[in-house]
Amino acid sequence: MKLLKDFMDMKNHGEKITMLTAYDYPSAKQAEQAGIDIILVGDSLGMTVLGYESTVDVTLEDMKHHARAARRGAKDTYIVVDMPFGTVGIDDTTDIQYAMELYRDTNANALKIEGAHIAPLIKKCTQNGIPIVAHLGLTPQSFGITGYKLQATSKEAAEALIEDAKRIEQSGAVMLVLEAIPSDLAAVITKVLSIPVIGIGAGAETDGQVLVYHDVLHYGVDHKPKFVKRYGDFSTGVDALKTYHEEVKAGIFPSPEFTYKKQIMDEVNE
Ligand code: KIV
Repeated sequence: MKLLKDFMDMKNHGEKITMLTAYDYPSAKQAEQAGIDIILVGDSLGMTVLGYESTVDVTLEDMKHHARAARRGAKDTYIVVDMPFGTVGIDDTTDIQYAMELYRDTNANALKIEGAHIAPLIKKCTQNGIPIVAHLGLTPQSFGITGYKLQATSKEAAEALIEDAKRIEQSGAVMLVLEAIPSDLAAVITKVLSIPVIGIGAGAETDGQVLVYHDVLHYGVDHKPKFVKRYGDFSTGVDALKTYHEEVKAGIFPSPEFTYKKQIMDEVNE
Protein backbone atom coordinates (compact mmCIF):
# COMPACT_ATOMS: atom_id res chain seq x y z
CA MET A 1 0.00 0.00 0.00
CA LYS A 2 1.25 3.50 -0.84
CA LEU A 3 1.43 5.68 2.27
CA LEU A 4 1.74 9.40 3.01
CA LYS A 5 5.50 9.35 2.51
CA ASP A 6 4.94 7.96 -0.99
CA PHE A 7 2.43 10.71 -1.82
CA MET A 8 4.93 13.33 -0.60
CA ASP A 9 7.60 11.74 -2.82
CA MET A 10 5.20 11.75 -5.77
CA LYS A 11 4.54 15.47 -5.23
CA ASN A 12 8.24 16.22 -4.94
CA HIS A 13 9.09 14.22 -8.07
CA GLY A 14 6.18 15.55 -10.12
CA GLU A 15 4.44 12.17 -10.37
CA LYS A 16 0.69 12.72 -10.47
CA ILE A 17 -1.48 11.17 -7.76
CA THR A 18 -4.76 9.49 -8.72
CA MET A 19 -7.73 9.50 -6.37
CA LEU A 20 -11.12 8.02 -7.17
CA THR A 21 -14.25 7.67 -5.11
CA ALA A 22 -15.46 4.16 -4.39
CA TYR A 23 -18.21 3.32 -1.98
CA ASP A 24 -18.60 -0.42 -1.96
CA TYR A 25 -16.85 -3.76 -2.41
CA PRO A 26 -16.92 -4.04 -6.24
CA SER A 27 -16.02 -0.42 -7.00
CA ALA A 28 -13.17 -0.43 -4.48
CA LYS A 29 -11.93 -3.74 -5.88
CA GLN A 30 -11.96 -2.29 -9.40
CA ALA A 31 -10.14 0.86 -8.24
CA GLU A 32 -7.44 -1.23 -6.59
CA GLN A 33 -7.12 -3.48 -9.66
CA ALA A 34 -6.77 -0.35 -11.81
CA GLY A 35 -3.88 0.83 -9.65
CA ILE A 36 -5.61 3.97 -8.32
CA ASP A 37 -3.36 5.52 -5.66
CA ILE A 38 -6.05 6.64 -3.20
CA ILE A 39 -9.68 5.64 -2.75
CA LEU A 40 -12.03 8.27 -1.38
CA VAL A 41 -15.16 7.01 0.30
CA GLY A 42 -16.75 10.38 -0.32
CA ASP A 43 -20.06 11.57 1.03
CA SER A 44 -21.05 12.00 -2.63
CA LEU A 45 -22.26 8.43 -2.04
CA GLY A 46 -25.40 10.12 -0.74
CA MET A 47 -26.37 11.09 -4.27
CA THR A 48 -24.59 8.46 -6.36
CA VAL A 49 -25.65 5.31 -4.50
CA LEU A 50 -28.27 6.28 -1.93
CA GLY A 51 -30.40 8.64 -4.02
CA TYR A 52 -30.32 11.50 -1.49
CA GLU A 53 -30.78 15.09 -2.65
CA SER A 54 -27.42 16.24 -1.28
CA THR A 55 -24.52 15.23 0.95
CA VAL A 56 -26.29 16.92 3.86
CA ASP A 57 -28.47 13.80 4.30
CA VAL A 58 -25.53 11.42 4.67
CA THR A 59 -25.13 9.98 8.18
CA LEU A 60 -22.17 8.66 10.13
CA GLU A 61 -23.70 5.18 9.86
CA ASP A 62 -23.92 5.53 6.05
CA MET A 63 -20.24 6.44 5.91
CA LYS A 64 -19.22 3.57 8.18
CA HIS A 65 -21.27 1.00 6.25
CA HIS A 66 -19.85 2.00 2.87
CA ALA A 67 -16.29 2.55 4.06
CA ARG A 68 -16.16 -0.93 5.59
CA ALA A 69 -17.35 -2.44 2.30
CA ALA A 70 -14.77 -0.42 0.36
CA ARG A 71 -12.02 -1.61 2.71
CA ARG A 72 -13.07 -5.23 2.13
CA GLY A 73 -12.72 -4.62 -1.62
CA ALA A 74 -9.38 -2.78 -1.44
CA LYS A 75 -7.23 -4.10 1.36
CA ASP A 76 -4.07 -2.71 -0.18
CA THR A 77 -5.09 0.83 -1.10
CA TYR A 78 -4.88 4.03 0.97
CA ILE A 79 -8.48 4.88 1.86
CA VAL A 80 -9.75 8.32 2.85
CA VAL A 81 -13.24 8.57 4.38
CA ASP A 82 -15.38 11.70 4.51
CA MET A 83 -16.63 13.06 7.82
CA PRO A 84 -20.32 13.64 7.00
CA PHE A 85 -22.43 16.74 7.61
CA GLY A 86 -23.42 17.14 11.25
CA THR A 87 -20.36 15.44 12.71
CA VAL A 88 -18.10 18.48 12.50
CA GLY A 89 -18.47 21.93 14.04
CA ILE A 90 -20.53 20.89 17.07
CA ASP A 91 -17.95 21.30 19.84
CA ASP A 92 -14.34 20.20 20.21
CA THR A 93 -15.09 17.10 22.29
CA THR A 94 -17.95 15.80 20.14
CA ASP A 95 -16.11 16.46 16.86
CA ILE A 96 -13.04 14.51 17.92
CA GLN A 97 -15.20 11.66 19.25
CA TYR A 98 -16.95 11.33 15.88
CA ALA A 99 -13.60 11.46 14.09
CA MET A 100 -12.13 8.75 16.31
CA GLU A 101 -15.21 6.58 15.90
CA LEU A 102 -15.19 6.85 12.09
CA TYR A 103 -11.44 6.31 11.82
CA ARG A 104 -11.43 3.28 14.12
CA ASP A 105 -14.62 1.61 12.85
CA THR A 106 -13.71 1.82 9.16
CA ASN A 107 -10.02 1.03 9.28
CA ALA A 108 -9.49 4.14 7.14
CA ASN A 109 -6.04 5.58 6.50
CA ALA A 110 -7.26 9.17 6.81
CA LEU A 111 -10.43 11.22 7.17
CA LYS A 112 -11.46 14.12 4.95
CA ILE A 113 -13.10 17.21 6.40
CA GLU A 114 -14.58 20.16 4.51
CA GLY A 115 -13.92 23.83 5.21
CA ALA A 116 -11.22 26.09 6.60
CA HIS A 117 -13.01 26.66 9.91
CA ILE A 118 -11.97 23.16 10.98
CA ALA A 119 -8.28 24.04 11.38
CA PRO A 120 -8.47 23.51 15.20
CA LEU A 121 -10.09 20.10 14.66
CA ILE A 122 -7.32 19.16 12.20
CA LYS A 123 -4.83 19.99 14.94
CA LYS A 124 -6.70 17.92 17.51
CA CYS A 125 -7.11 14.94 15.16
CA THR A 126 -3.41 15.11 14.26
CA GLN A 127 -2.45 15.16 17.95
CA ASN A 128 -4.63 12.08 18.41
CA GLY A 129 -3.04 10.24 15.50
CA ILE A 130 -5.73 10.71 12.85
CA PRO A 131 -4.41 11.95 9.48
CA ILE A 132 -6.69 14.59 7.99
CA VAL A 133 -7.23 15.48 4.33
CA ALA A 134 -8.71 18.98 4.15
CA HIS A 135 -11.20 20.05 1.46
CA LEU A 136 -11.42 23.68 0.32
CA GLY A 137 -12.93 25.63 -2.58
CA LEU A 138 -16.39 24.29 -3.32
CA THR A 139 -17.37 22.33 -0.22
CA PRO A 140 -20.62 20.52 -1.09
CA GLN A 141 -21.81 20.24 2.52
CA SER A 142 -22.17 24.06 2.44
CA PHE A 143 -24.05 24.19 -0.88
CA GLY A 144 -26.91 26.00 0.88
CA ILE A 145 -24.57 28.97 1.29
CA THR A 146 -22.23 28.71 -1.70
CA GLY A 147 -24.31 26.93 -4.34
CA TYR A 148 -22.62 24.45 -6.67
CA LYS A 149 -20.47 26.86 -8.63
CA LEU A 150 -16.90 27.93 -9.26
CA GLN A 151 -15.43 29.41 -6.06
CA ALA A 152 -12.78 32.03 -5.29
CA THR A 153 -13.38 34.05 -8.43
CA SER A 154 -12.52 37.47 -6.93
CA LYS A 155 -9.03 38.67 -5.94
CA GLU A 156 -10.08 38.86 -2.29
CA ALA A 157 -11.57 35.36 -2.28
CA ALA A 158 -8.49 33.95 -4.01
CA GLU A 159 -6.19 35.55 -1.43
CA ALA A 160 -8.38 34.27 1.40
CA LEU A 161 -8.25 30.76 -0.04
CA ILE A 162 -4.45 30.83 -0.22
CA GLU A 163 -4.36 31.87 3.46
CA ASP A 164 -6.86 29.14 4.39
CA ALA A 165 -4.75 26.55 2.59
CA LYS A 166 -1.63 27.64 4.47
CA ARG A 167 -3.55 27.53 7.75
CA ILE A 168 -4.82 24.00 7.25
CA GLU A 169 -1.30 22.85 6.37
CA GLN A 170 0.06 24.48 9.52
CA SER A 171 -2.68 22.71 11.49
CA GLY A 172 -1.32 19.37 10.35
CA ALA A 173 -3.43 18.38 7.31
CA VAL A 174 -1.65 15.68 5.33
CA MET A 175 -3.27 16.49 2.01
CA LEU A 176 -5.66 19.02 0.48
CA VAL A 177 -8.53 18.54 -1.95
CA LEU A 178 -9.37 21.67 -3.95
CA GLU A 179 -12.74 21.66 -5.69
CA ALA A 180 -14.07 23.96 -8.42
CA ILE A 181 -11.65 26.85 -8.33
CA PRO A 182 -9.78 28.63 -11.16
CA SER A 183 -6.84 26.57 -12.39
CA ASP A 184 -4.26 29.35 -11.94
CA LEU A 185 -5.24 29.74 -8.29
CA ALA A 186 -5.02 25.96 -7.77
CA ALA A 187 -1.55 26.04 -9.35
CA VAL A 188 -0.39 28.73 -6.90
CA ILE A 189 -1.75 26.85 -3.87
CA THR A 190 -0.10 23.64 -5.09
CA LYS A 191 3.25 25.45 -5.27
CA VAL A 192 2.89 27.20 -1.93
CA LEU A 193 1.98 24.08 0.06
CA SER A 194 4.36 21.27 0.81
CA ILE A 195 1.55 18.70 1.25
CA PRO A 196 0.00 17.06 -1.85
CA VAL A 197 -2.88 18.98 -3.41
CA ILE A 198 -5.52 16.96 -5.25
CA GLY A 199 -7.87 18.80 -7.59
CA ILE A 200 -11.37 18.25 -8.89
CA GLY A 201 -12.40 20.96 -11.32
CA ALA A 202 -9.18 22.77 -10.40
CA GLY A 203 -7.11 22.33 -13.56
CA ALA A 204 -4.08 20.28 -14.48
CA GLU A 205 -1.42 21.77 -12.22
CA THR A 206 -2.40 20.22 -8.92
CA ASP A 207 -0.39 17.24 -7.64
CA GLY A 208 -3.19 14.87 -8.49
CA GLN A 209 -6.79 14.48 -9.58
CA VAL A 210 -9.91 13.08 -7.97
CA LEU A 211 -13.08 12.11 -9.78
CA VAL A 212 -16.29 10.37 -8.78
CA TYR A 213 -16.55 6.70 -9.84
CA HIS A 214 -20.09 7.12 -11.16
CA ASP A 215 -19.07 10.16 -13.24
CA VAL A 216 -16.02 8.41 -14.70
CA LEU A 217 -18.09 5.40 -15.71
CA HIS A 218 -21.34 7.22 -16.58
CA TYR A 219 -23.17 5.01 -14.10
CA GLY A 220 -26.53 6.22 -12.83
CA VAL A 221 -25.70 9.91 -13.24
CA ASP A 222 -27.07 12.14 -15.99
CA HIS A 223 -25.48 15.49 -15.21
CA LYS A 224 -21.91 15.90 -16.47
CA PRO A 225 -19.99 18.83 -14.99
CA LYS A 226 -17.39 20.48 -17.27
CA PHE A 227 -14.47 18.89 -15.37
CA VAL A 228 -15.73 15.30 -15.71
CA LYS A 229 -14.29 13.04 -18.37
CA ARG A 230 -16.20 9.80 -18.92
CA TYR A 231 -13.85 6.87 -19.39
CA GLY A 232 -16.54 4.20 -19.63
CA ASP A 233 -20.25 3.89 -20.24
CA PHE A 234 -22.17 1.80 -17.72
CA SER A 235 -25.36 3.51 -18.87
CA THR A 236 -25.58 0.76 -21.51
CA GLY A 237 -26.50 -1.53 -18.61
CA VAL A 238 -30.10 -0.39 -19.11
CA ASP A 239 -30.11 -1.90 -22.61
CA ALA A 240 -28.77 -5.17 -21.21
CA LEU A 241 -31.49 -5.20 -18.55
CA LYS A 242 -34.17 -4.49 -21.22
CA THR A 243 -32.94 -7.45 -23.24
CA TYR A 244 -33.05 -9.69 -20.15
CA HIS A 245 -36.60 -8.52 -19.42
CA GLU A 246 -37.70 -9.14 -23.01
CA GLU A 247 -36.04 -12.56 -23.26
CA VAL A 248 -37.73 -13.81 -20.10
CA LYS A 249 -41.10 -12.54 -21.33
CA ALA A 250 -40.54 -14.21 -24.72
CA GLY A 251 -39.37 -17.52 -23.21
CA ILE A 252 -35.93 -17.14 -24.78
CA PHE A 253 -34.13 -17.13 -21.43
CA PRO A 254 -33.18 -19.53 -19.92
CA SER A 255 -32.30 -21.63 -22.98
CA PRO A 256 -30.87 -25.18 -22.47
CA GLU A 257 -27.38 -23.67 -22.19
CA PHE A 258 -28.40 -22.04 -18.91
CA THR A 259 -30.49 -24.90 -17.54
CA TYR A 260 -29.60 -27.86 -15.28
CA LYS A 261 -30.61 -31.20 -16.75
CA LYS A 262 -34.02 -32.60 -15.86
CA GLN A 263 -32.35 -35.86 -14.80
CA ILE A 264 -33.82 -36.01 -11.28
CA MET A 265 -37.46 -35.83 -12.35
CA ASP A 266 -36.79 -38.35 -15.12
CA GLU A 267 -35.59 -40.76 -12.42
CA VAL A 268 -38.56 -40.00 -10.16
CA ASN A 269 -40.95 -40.71 -13.02
CA GLU A 270 -39.35 -44.07 -13.86
O1 KIV B 1 -17.52 13.19 -1.71
C1 KIV B 1 -16.82 13.35 -2.71
O2 KIV B 1 -16.95 12.66 -3.73
C2 KIV B 1 -15.79 14.38 -2.68
C3 KIV B 1 -15.05 14.66 -3.94
C4 KIV B 1 -15.90 15.51 -4.81
C5 KIV B 1 -13.74 15.27 -3.70
O3 KIV B 1 -15.59 14.98 -1.67
